[in-house]
Amino acid sequence: MHDLIIRDAEIFDGTGARPVRGDVAVDDGKIAALATFTGSARETVDAKGLAISPGFIDVHTHDDFAVVLHPDMAFKTLGGVTTVVVGNCGFGPAPWKPASRFAATVDPRPLPQWEGYRGYMQTLEQNPPAVNVATLIGHGTARHAVMGLEAREPSGAEMAAMKEIVAEGLEAGCVGMSSGLIYDPGRHARTDELVELANLMRGTGALYATHMRDEGVGLLSSVAEAIEIGERAGVPVQISHHKASGERAWGLVTQSLKLIEDAQAKGQNVHADQYPYTAGSTSLGAVFRDGAFGGPGRETDPKNIVIAAARGRSEWEGRSIAQLAAAMGCSATEAATQVLQEIPSTTIIIHMMREEDVRTVMRHKSTMIGSDGIPTLDGKPHPRLYGTFARVIGHYARDEKLFAMEEAIHRMTGFSAKKFGLADRGVIAPGLAADLVLFDPKKIIDAGTFEDPKKTPLGVKAVYTNGALTVQDGKSTTARAGRALRRS
Ligand code: ZN
Ligand code: CU
Repeated sequence: MHDLIIRDAEIFDGTGARPVRGDVAVDDGKIAALATFTGSARETVDAKGLAISPGFIDVHTHDDFAVVLHPDMAFKTLGGVTTVVVGNCGFGPAPWKPASRFAATVDPRPLPQWEGYRGYMQTLEQNPPAVNVATLIGHGTARHAVMGLEAREPSGAEMAAMKEIVAEGLEAGCVGMSSGLIYDPGRHARTDELVELANLMRGTGALYATHMRDEGVGLLSSVAEAIEIGERAGVPVQISHHKASGERAWGLVTQSLKLIEDAQAKGQNVHADQYPYTAGSTSLGAVFRDGAFGGPGRETDPKNIVIAAARGRSEWEGRSIAQLAAAMGCSATEAATQVLQEIPSTTIIIHMMREEDVRTVMRHKSTMIGSDGIPTLDGKPHPRLYGTFARVIGHYARDEKLFAMEEAIHRMTGFSAKKFGLADRGVIAPGLAADLVLFDPKKIIDAGTFEDPKKTPLGVKAVYTNGALTVQDGKSTTARAGRALRRS
């Protein structure tokens, strides 16, 4: 007698194989069997007309603190996500002091304290969220802990201290190290510093994930740097949110994809992830610095920069810097200065890609899906926070026919699990964790817009995390069955 049988579903197993109809049986939080008939169970779900797939793995998130502060994680689970990779763009959850400083810019709620990456994982185990959490070590956070925001190379002692932080994270089971080379303080690191730290991961299976120095006209040299770091340190590379940012860079993705292909042909493990929108989102401080718009990979037109979240100034949210400037009767530069002065943590949405490039990257075999959502739940966050996975399946695969649905699902399940070393997830097969999404393949779609982003995707019927029913009919349950995942 099984715990649960989901009967007569169209099974997308996460490997990219064509779906087959059958049952999926679950015992003890694990997949027990899949077949045309799997016997009897304490609970049976009739899934006729529905599809089932592995739970979606969001490989690029900034949910490090949301999983502690909002353990229901509804903004992710309602869209079918069962695992989040945190610690991206150089911002990790440890050491606690610089991490909590960064956390406060996203969400003002007070955080409990933890010691190192081990302590972070223990915190999650003591109060589990509804999703599984795999953690990257943040290079920027490590640098911040050791040498503040200083714009110089580390001394020998500082390098040793950073290595200790990275080593602790690896020991705790982190799946890699991330860098954020447009942000403070990560942008002050030279290639050699990153190679030296990444070297600690050699042979461990942990990867180097990077928000590159320049996603605009300097895209190709940035991709080359990422590949070089992977090659010199002997570690897999993940290029985060692969894109060509700003009109002058449009079209460069064809060549950046070629660089990835060339590295792969030489036997290097290099891939990328992407969110399915032509706009990005970041902090205003990252695109407006020292009194000026622009810089590497940063859009210069204030018309294309829209306030996402400005705590205490909700009337600014949803308006572009150009509109604010007009209303304030000043220049865009003055408006941005004023906004940053009043609310340094202001986040923005930045329209800077073209649709053709988004599609070129998405079609490419090396691309997996990651939302890059910033969980500023009070403002108008980028709709990718909620809709990324439903949008890739419903919009890009089903409606636009960019690729088959099984391919779309592979890019957010089996492929991602393999890359991030999550050996017991991402595929529906006996013995693996029962992270499952039941959805209507005809109806699944994202529902949020930039104007009204906080919308639950449609067509997601049920979500199971480690066998526990986490979402039913568009509503969260009280299940908190997520685990802190360790590198396997
Ligand atoms: Zn980033
Ligand atoms: Cu990011």
